[in-house]
Amino acid sequence: MSNRPYIVGNWKMHGTRAMLAEARAIDRAAERLLKVEVALAPPFTLIHATRKEAELIAIGAQDVHPADGGAHTGDVSASMVKDAGASFTIVGHSERRADHKETNALVKEKAEAALAAGMSVIVCVGETEEERDAGKAEAVVARQLTGSLPTGDDVAEKVTVAYEPVWAIGTGRTPTVEDVGAMHRHIREKLESIYGEAGASVRILYGGSVKPENAAELLAADEVGGALVGGASLTAESFLGIIIAAAEGEKD
Ligand code: 13P
Repeated sequence: MSNRPYIVGNWKMHGTRAMLAEARAIDRAAERLLKVEVALAPPFTLIHATRKEAELIAIGAQDVHPADGGAHTGDVSASMVKDAGASFTIVGHSERRADHKETNALVKEKAEAALAAGMSVIVCVGETEEERDAGKAEAVVARQLTGSLPTGDDVAEKVTVAYEPVWAIGTGRTPTVEDVGAMHRHIREKLESIYGEAGASVRILYGGSVKPENAAELLAADEVGGALVGGASLTAESFLGIIIAAAEGEKD
């Protein structure tokens, strides 16, 4: 597992071929910022075209179905996105948990399907505002980790966790650096209890209103190994601001 900060753009349901120029610009700039590992997760429809544009950055999917194929109209499997050029997938994003009623058990099945197809996974967790206000944030995240993370031998090195508090997504609000550090330390403990020693090197990304202006301080918080970026990954200009902040935070 690389120690470089991992900065991943999640384009969500945004993007037509007109946006390939942004992907190309991000990829070209990433060549000059090799201290950072950069990845983009465009919608399914752009995976293949983005893979062809990009020489350096990893391309991933935003979701996969747990089955490898079959009668599942409208769904897409891990082996299909891999064939289109994806090397990783996001699973368990809070928008999917909310919009599609995805449970921890389903997220785990999806993660295991991605691993079986030879991909790596980013498993998302995070509490709602009510859960944080009720003092339940750590318990909720612990339950999500136990229920959603894939298990098995040599799995940890293929797994990244993204902590995305639901109330910080697309709102411009972020937790304090102290709160981010506290939650990431809690996630690290859980990872070590689930994966043993291998849990110490699983990367933990922060996601939720990361922007060029706040990236440096969020990336410097305890146990933060990168960022999962929504809105600010949609243009090369703002995404590069975050990638540069990550590169500047790295010692030579
Ligand atoms: P924003 O960066 O737009 O808040 O989205 C975060 C996110 O959900 C990334 O997966």
